[in-house]
Amino acid sequence: MAKHMFANLLLLWSLGFYTTGKMDDGPKEQSWRNKNLDSIPPDLDVRLRSLDLSNNFIRRLHKVNLPYLEQLDFSSNQLELISEGALRDLAVLEKLNLSMNALNTNLDRNSKGLQSIGGLKTLDISWNNLGNEAVKLYLRNKSSLEQLKMSGNSLTWLTHDLFKESENLRSITIDANLISAIDKGTFEALGKLEKLNLAKNNLAHICDFKLKRVQYLNLSRNSIEFFVTAENNHMYSLEILDLSHNKLLYFPILPKRNQLKFLYLQHNIVGALTSEASMVSETNVLYNEVVRMNDVRIGKNNLHSTWRLMPLLHIDLSHNHFTSFPMETLSLLSTLEGLDFSFNCVQKLTWNVRQESASKYDRQLYFPSLRYLNMQSNGLVTISPRFLKALTQVETINLRDNAVQPCAPVAQMPSSLSSQQLNLSSSCIAFGKLKTLKHLSLENNDIKILPANAFRESSLVSLNLARNSHMVMRVDSWEDIKETLQSLTISELNVTNSELFLPCMPLLMHLNISNNRLNALPPNLNCSPLRELSIRNNAFMSLNYSLILALSAHLHVMYFSGNDLTCCDSNWLSALNNSGIKMPDIALTKCVTDDSSIPIEEYLKGSSLYCSRHIKGIHLGQTFIVILFVTVFITVFMMFARKTCCLKKSFLV
Ligand SMILES: *[C@@H]1O[C@H](CO)[C@@H](O)[C@H](O)[C@H]1NC(C)=O
Ligand SMILES: *[C@@H]1O[C@H](CO)[C@@H](O)[C@H](O)[C@H]1NC(C)=O
Ligand SMILES: *[C@@H]1O[C@H](CO)[C@@H](O)[C@H](O)[C@H]1NC(C)=O
Ligand SMILES: *[C@@H]1O[C@H](CO)[C@@H](O)[C@H](O)[C@H]1NC(C)=O
Ligand SMILES: *[C@@H]1O[C@H](CO)[C@@H](O)[C@H](O)[C@H]1NC(C)=O
Ligand SMILES: *[C@@H]1O[C@H](CO)[C@@H](O)[C@H](O)[C@H]1NC(C)=O
Repeated sequence: MAKHMFANLLLLWSLGFYTTGKMDDGPKEQSWRNKNLDSIPPDLDVRLRSLDLSNNFIRRLHKVNLPYLEQLDFSSNQLELISEGALRDLAVLEKLNLSMNALNTNLDRNSKGLQSIGGLKTLDISWNNLGNEAVKLYLRNKSSLEQLKMSGNSLTWLTHDLFKESENLRSITIDANLISAIDKGTFEALGKLEKLNLAKNNLAHICDFKLKRVQYLNLSRNSIEFFVTAENNHMYSLEILDLSHNKLLYFPILPKRNQLKFLYLQHNIVGALTSEASMVSETNVLYNEVVRMNDVRIGKNNLHSTWRLMPLLHIDLSHNHFTSFPMETLSLLSTLEGLDFSFNCVQKLTWNVRQESASKYDRQLYFPSLRYLNMQSNGLVTISPRFLKALTQVETINLRDNAVQPCAPVAQMPSSLSSQQLNLSSSCIAFGKLKTLKHLSLENNDIKILPANAFRESSLVSLNLARNSHMVMRVDSWEDIKETLQSLTISELNVTNSELFLPCMPLLMHLNISNNRLNALPPNLNCSPLRELSIRNNAFMSLNYSLILALSAHLHVMYFSGNDLTCCDSNWLSALNNSGIKMPDIALTKCVTDDSSIPIEEYLKGSSLYCSRHIKGIHLGQTFIVILFVTVFITVFMMFARKTCCLKKSFLV
């Protein structure tokens, strides 16, 4: 009986019915998704508000009579014909998804079918192989439309009358088409347009950006060489601009007054010119060419005058061709909090700042809001002390894959050198002066020595020193940060226990000492409330049981594969296991017994089978029991025999 009911339930489920709201109101939503349908199911409940017919094989859409229907998902079918009156009775339809169909045929009939629904707010006609003509027809009578998606079609040229009958659009997505030209006036007439996505097209130039209402503009993955806005005093709403993956040679010239918070310029060729000064002047020449038709007003720096006013929070300049750091241009961005400058070619971060004409001293600029700086993979060797001084708020610096050396504090240097001389002569970097610095990665810099007090005045919370395989650490290397450090990575240093001394670090929660040649845990770890520990790929045979027991109070995760662990010396493992600590790589871990190497999980399942000492113990016990049993048996037997003897005797008497 129960089985029968269950089967019925399953059947209902597989037909895709599910209901929301009160039962007596009837179903409001129905899903026929992925049901191999080749036509719309008959007898649909007229009260439906939402109908999902996606992922079927329906080719034709004939009259549907669902007067309450608000949402219709017809995506991923083979729809090629919408008959003329098909949608006429869908009086309250707001959201229609026709993506991934074949609507590039029967344009006349389909457009008549689509025209009859004037109340649509959201329309998706992506991936239909539609050209310009088709789109123009399909957008007729769409004055309520707010959201339009046309990804993955074959639009090549956007004409000024394309959105003539859909003038209330707020969001347009036309990515992954073949657009190479946009007529003047195509988007300007759309007074409510806030979001425009033109990524993955063939656009080459933005000659005069005029969309004042647009907050989000995505032009990623085109072939854009320059982006220019003719100077005006209008307030633009632009907040997010993505120009990544293009062919920009210069910084974009943006509206002077805007709301820009996020600017994505990664994967271009900005900075290919040698110096910042020539880049700035070239940009201004370009501006004059594009905007003023060479009517040059000499001396005006359009790039800087517009950049100065931008309220930018984050700029991504990674994967460009900078060989020098655009110090002045970036320092104009006084609200900038995050700068990604990774994967460029700035080997020397020098202080190339133009002097004020009157003064003979270099100007000191500042990056007053910068908190996050990523300089990974630049081949960086030196950083000007003035640049460090400019970073008054920096919290995170990523210098992974460069060639920088940390400095010892000046006091410890030979006294014959003055600090001024040192700043000029040494190419090491005095991180110790960055008082606000909290997170630093120096991974893979070929650091030679980690001097004592290298981080004197900072209060580092996390430090990554991985992959500096020739780095010498001193007993007092950690002195200044031992009280603040919460996360430390010292993997791939190729160190043994005698080369690694860790002091008591009362806040340390993450420690990665993987890929070294260690065979014992640093004893001072019992000071630390460690939550995560990796000792992978070392030379551990066993771990200190009492230390692990102490650590297990805080530990959440531990990685230990790639060691020569001894199976039969693994109390520590039971301690870990019993405290429910996660061991994500336990399946990769083996341990050795007298004669073989076995997966440690297998060992845990039946430890008594593998460890001979253990087996001997059992053997001894068994022998003892057998001997005891035999002794008792013989004793009893003898007593019995004697009794019988006696009885016999007495009998005989
Ligand atoms: C339309 O359906 C496709 C495929 O199911 C989906 O990816 C897309 O987000 C839908 N469009 C809208 C506007 O919801
Ligand atoms: C435009 O849509 C409205 C309903 O929103 C409809 O009454 C009208 O007939 C449509 N116009 C055409 C030309 O189909
Ligand atoms: C812009 O579009 C690209 C390509 O679709 C996408 O990867 C990127 O995340 C978008 N950018 C933003 C800022 O949304
Ligand atoms: C690690 O140190 C040993 C002994 O000094 C040396 O033989 C080996 O080449 C080093 N390995 C690496 C990757 O530096
Ligand atoms: C430890 O460091 C290694 C090598 O640097 C890295 O691959 C691994 O992901 C790190 N492990 C953890 C748990 O952070
Ligand atoms: C194990 O660790 C404890 C606590 O850190 C330490 O006192 C003890 O000496 C260690 N034992 C061995 C054998 O290293």
